[in-house]
Amino acid sequence: MKVAVFSTKPYDQKYFEQFNESFHHELAFFDTNLNEQTTNLTRDFDVVCPFVNDKLDKQVIELLAKNGVKLIALRSAGFNNVDLNVAEANHIKVTRVPAYSPQAVAEHALALILTLNRKTHKAYNRIKEGNFSLNNLIGFNLYNKTVGVIGTGKIGSAFCQIMLGLGCKVVAYDVKKQPALEDKGVTYMSLEDLYKRSDIISLHCPLMPQTKHLINEDSIALMKDHVMIINTSRGGLIDTEDVIKNLKEKKVGHLGIDVYEQEEQVFFEDKSEQIIEDDALLRLISFPNVLITSHQAFLTDEALKEIAQTVLQNIDDFKNGRSLVNEVKS
Ligand code: NAI
Repeated sequence: MKVAVFSTKPYDQKYFEQFNESFHHELAFFDTNLNEQTTNLTRDFDVVCPFVNDKLDKQVIELLAKNGVKLIALRSAGFNNVDLNVAEANHIKVTRVPAYSPQAVAEHALALILTLNRKTHKAYNRIKEGNFSLNNLIGFNLYNKTVGVIGTGKIGSAFCQIMLGLGCKVVAYDVKKQPALEDKGVTYMSLEDLYKRSDIISLHCPLMPQTKHLINEDSIALMKDHVMIINTSRGGLIDTEDVIKNLKEKKVGHLGIDVYEQEEQVFFEDKSEQIIEDDALLRLISFPNVLITSHQAFLTDEALKEIAQTVLQNIDDFKNGRSLVNEVKS
């Protein structure tokens, strides 16, 4: 199959080429995003392989269909960037990578918590400059704190187990409970109760119309003063303006985000020599108690291997008319 891989970074190419040795698809790597303008690159391709910030809306999908594309093989778990109804109407199948090392993302959520709390990023810079002072580096013990987990699927579940291991009380909300987690000590409760009781809240649910701006002025008002909010899921789960307001008012004590509502304008790129025009992002960067990473939670060797392998297998299943176990439908 001829596959156009979009938004390619050197690490994508490395892992895809390595695993393609046993699949023999014809891969073409484009570092550009997939958008209306770049769909012309997909002529003569059977498959496109987009990443999280490639928006596959009606216009893009109709152009892909015109060019003969028959499969959108996502290399992500989330599929909020694809209009599934339009894909179906244009007879284009969509597959994803439902699970690739959930521990990679769960462990990154922990990294955000520990860095924000124990300020190791600041200590590192201080020591580099010969500053051995401990002033303003006070953190808190995670032991016995209450951690609220919203979404206890594969990643949320791995995260619950990490936090239980640290001696935290773990409370959770999901539309579907997991009895196995309850057996391990996780207590499910309403969202409202979770907001009221948690010292740390970590988001692991998908972005959907029901979860858009889940974290907003009203939900933050229910939370404890100085709550820590962690988002490694999707930027749109948090209303950025509302969280900025609550950081300014010191209601939110810490914010750790690996994803950001408007991230497609900046994330994954080196913008160090450019003027960043996103004022909300600049405001977030300016807070001493906000930590931002550039959608890197998935970026482990294990996860990249699983992504490449699963995407290439999905394409192979499609090519050979096998059932598409990782198909997503509207
Ligand atoms: P999953 O499908 O295994 O779990 C999602 C969970 O959210 C399910 O248990 C589901 O019942 C629950 N859920 C659905 N609607 C909900 C609602 N309204 N309120 C609360 N919970 C709800 O997905 P997985 O693999 O755990 O991934 C979670 C999210 O993490 C993905 O949707 C994706 O956006 C994000 N992600 C981020 C990555 C990163 O690098 N930052 C990498 C991979 C995924």
